[in-house]
Amino acid sequence: MHKRTLGLAALALVAGVAAHAADLPSNILYDANTDKKTLWPQPVANSGVVKYNEHRQDLSKWVTLSYEDKRPTRKAETVELKGDLNGDAKRGKEIAMNTQRGNCWACHVMPGDAQGGTGGPTLVGFKHRGYPDSYVYQTIWDRRAINPGAIMPPYGTNGVLPEQDIRDLVAFLQSLD
Ligand code: HEC
Repeated sequence: MHKRTLGLAALALVAGVAAHAADLPSNILYDANTDKKTLWPQPVANSGVVKYNEHRQDLSKWVTLSYEDKRPTRKAETVELKGDLNGDAKRGKEIAMNTQRGNCWACHVMPGDAQGGTGGPTLVGFKHRGYPDSYVYQTIWDRRAINPGAIMPPYGTNGVLPEQDIRDLVAFLQSLD
């Protein structure tokens, strides 16, 4: 893995972006080979498991985590959950597991998947954390309002999921034993 890291650094130099790459936090990998010059968390070398070094930090200087994407990042939105939750847990599960919709298991372990992602905390036993629905709703709408350095996609702010889908996801998570 060390060798690969050096390789990426060398590629960055060849691509003439050394000035940018030098500014990057040392625990972030810069993949100059990808189309959009993607940033990756640094894997823990030779750990024998899929494990990343701590990477939750403020990367807002790098718009959409990409050097070449010039679209401005939308500001974090603080939202209020209005009225009853009125969510459908069964529907929420379908949205969470659907790679074209929530795709939550790309980053989270959830009951019912063979192997979830490790980018975020496990959601197994979620209901026992005792969070209010409003907090979970805000987290899915835009986690950055709670933690400015969060890498979780702002599903509400970015218009990835409509309000009802987020209500259904909250109902699903709050049912996880
Ligand atoms: C790209 C990775 C990624 C995806 C995709 C993702 N999350 Fe997250 N999620 C995270 C990370 C990282 C955190 C920790 C955020 C922090 O540090 O503030 C998190 C935190 C959370 C939390 C708070 C957990 C707690 O105990 O405080 C919830 C709830 C959550 N995510 C639900 C979801 C749901 C539902 C989806 C799908 C709609 C989803 N996440 C998709 C990365 C992701």
